[in-house]
Amino acid sequence: MASSGKGDSMGFPEGFLWGAATAAYQIEGAAQEDGRAPSIWDTFSRTPGKVLNGDTGDVATDHYHRRQEDVAMIAELGLDAYRFSISWSRVLPDGKINQKGVDFYSRLVDELLEHGIAPVVTLYHWDLPQALEDEGGWTARGTARRFADYAERIGRVLGDRVHTWTTLNEPWCSAFLGYAAGVHAPGRTEPAGALAAAHHLNLAHGLAVRALRGVVSPSARHSVTLNFHHLRGDAEAVRKVDAVANRVFLDPMLGKGYPADLLEDTAAVTDWGFVHDGDLDLIAAPIDVLGVNYYSPTLVRRWDGVSPREHADGHRQGAASPFVGCDDVEFVLQPGPYTAMNWPIDANGMEELLLRLHRDHPDTPLMVTENGAAFDDAVDGDGRVRDERRIAYLRDHIAAVERAVEAGADVRGYFAWSLLDNFEWAYGYSKRFGLVHVDYATGERTWKDSAHWYRDTIAARRRGS
Ligand code: NOJ
Repeated sequence: MASSGKGDSMGFPEGFLWGAATAAYQIEGAAQEDGRAPSIWDTFSRTPGKVLNGDTGDVATDHYHRRQEDVAMIAELGLDAYRFSISWSRVLPDGKINQKGVDFYSRLVDELLEHGIAPVVTLYHWDLPQALEDEGGWTARGTARRFADYAERIGRVLGDRVHTWTTLNEPWCSAFLGYAAGVHAPGRTEPAGALAAAHHLNLAHGLAVRALRGVVSPSARHSVTLNFHHLRGDAEAVRKVDAVANRVFLDPMLGKGYPADLLEDTAAVTDWGFVHDGDLDLIAAPIDVLGVNYYSPTLVRRWDGVSPREHADGHRQGAASPFVGCDDVEFVLQPGPYTAMNWPIDANGMEELLLRLHRDHPDTPLMVTENGAAFDDAVDGDGRVRDERRIAYLRDHIAAVERAVEAGADVRGYFAWSLLDNFEWAYGYSKRFGLVHVDYATGERTWKDSAHWYRDTIAARRRGS
């Protein structure tokens, strides 16, 4: 590996955070305990046919009861930082603070800090309180204000101890998988509603950053995590999908307003009348770091309108598409190898994406807040989980991050998805992304080979070898 020119043999800068990530609904369980109210994922997962095998997050990995064991595991892995999310409906089940819910996160933060691990908090990882969905969910403007209020209240409680605040995780999924394709909660298929949801998520983000800055430690960092569609293919198809999948969030959040081509491409769907005067200034509240989730690239081309349309993501012709305004685009199946999600493995995409973001927004530091792979892991008779494909995936993607850093991208950290196997949304428990294997019958945790590898890799990086 070429020298980074930073006085050591590796590309990663001083203070680079090595971490792992999770999300509340995917790991906590205890869905009806200690005053938690239902979220849209409780409702959605109980709706027949929505989640594979009828799985729900009722028990999940039982992290709510195994918090200390899990923190000990995080410490043993040698992580610098742990990214987790707060369940809005656990801490504010009826608009008022639920002390038991808040205590859970407060203890988690304290235990992390006792081990020298930086807490990286996501406020919204897709689990809107059902009561707010009943009032219109993200299609309603009022939800953005409610979110800012929630952010401020949590900021007051944890604000002296949290290292990085992330407002939203992957708002594209919340808006377009939730309100256009209907494959995520709340399961609505309303293209205009999805664009309104995107705007209200943007607004929620901006309002929450402002609210947090007023109450938390001035040294805390503020961020948002986006899932970028790293696009390849015909220029026109790439432009269109880039507008409605990436720039719809990125541009207004970074102060550039909504892209003109997006407004044109979606003009038949909505007049964007939900954007009020002053909203763009609110959305553009400055952030300190941009969270980047990357798993695989997306290949697109112009659809001729005649031949059967491909959709690599499994959205069949006729099914509602999450890509509003892209009716003349097809999503082309890419060559393998694939993960268990059928996502192509392509580490170069990571490097290209980080460099593109750095080129387009040179003053915005980046952090890889998720990267990882699902494989059909099993515990062997000798107690080991031999997940060499995950090790190869992580190794190649970390090397790609390193190349991006060496080429000038300002990347502040890397978080593996996920700390442990968990509830993979519409796929239920069938897809295992964890460094640590979970036996769902007993809750038992078993380190996969990749967990040992990640621990050793981090330790070696820290030693500078
Ligand atoms: C992104 C999401 O943030 C996370 O919740 C999900 O499990 C992973 N990607 C894998 O699909």
